[in-house]
Amino acid sequence: MLEVTKLSVAYGGIQAVRNVSFRVEQGEMVALIGANGAGKTSTLKALARLLTAASGSVRYCGQEISALEPHRLVSQGIALVPEGRGVFPRMSIVENLLMGAYSRFDKPAIVADTEHVFSLFPRLKERAQQLAGTLSGGEQQMLAIGRALMSRPKLLLLDEPSMGLAPLMVQRIFEVIRKVADEGMTVLLVEQNAKLALEVSQRGYVMESGEITLTDEAEKLLANPKVRAAYLGE
Ligand SMILES: Nc1ncnc2c1ncn2[C@@H]1O[C@H](COP(=O)(O)OP(=O)(O)OP(=O)(O)O)[C@@H](O)[C@H]1O
Ligand SMILES: [Mg+2]
Repeated sequence: MLEVTKLSVAYGGIQAVRNVSFRVEQGEMVALIGANGAGKTSTLKALARLLTAASGSVRYCGQEISALEPHRLVSQGIALVPEGRGVFPRMSIVENLLMGAYSRFDKPAIVADTEHVFSLFPRLKERAQQLAGTLSGGEQQMLAIGRALMSRPKLLLLDEPSMGLAPLMVQRIFEVIRKVADEGMTVLLVEQNAKLALEVSQRGYVMESGEITLTDEAEKLLANPKVRAAYLGE
């Protein structure tokens, strides 16, 4: 579904991502793990066209998308849950969810999808009219994921959904991510929390200083001594 070839991203003279290649098959959940500053967010932003890659190719469903406008990607089925969530603080939960469906006009289906998000995250339903800016970090993360689902994506890009959250909240959110994947969603999961990410994914890529240095089945990466030493605190 997604095939990234020799992608590079630069900020001025600094190369944050260097010749990165990876792929995500339909229905797969793939983890992209790495330390602070490894280039994970820059990679996702380039995929979602929030920044322009210096070079490289991004093919999605057989089509080159590296020059498409970002809003076109949403209607093509790519949704990004950005690092830091990016909810609209002065809008309610329901309004935030509807913003996720801005490219759609099938009103009855939008209503049904709102209910589906509420069934995944009952906490959001209880607080439907609350302003997003007053939600806890975990609730904002739920909302950011819910909003992304409202565009009916085929490919979900998640940037550090566990960031800054208590373990119990992380667990709850990852259960939902896993459930969404089990329903057939294709997911690219960026995480610093390597253990968590690899436990829910089929395959993984390790990113270091802007390059992919290791790739394998998630189970094998979890057992890999290098990964254990560098990312699992052993
Ligand atoms: N807007 C920017 N301008 C200049 N440099 C940037 C910019 N955004 C990121 N960088 C640099 O690019 C490199 C990769 O950053 P990036 O945010 O992609 O890393 P990351 O893997 O997502 O890290 P983290 O786990 O901390 O989120 C870093 O050295 C960072 O300082
Ligand atoms: Mg990041």
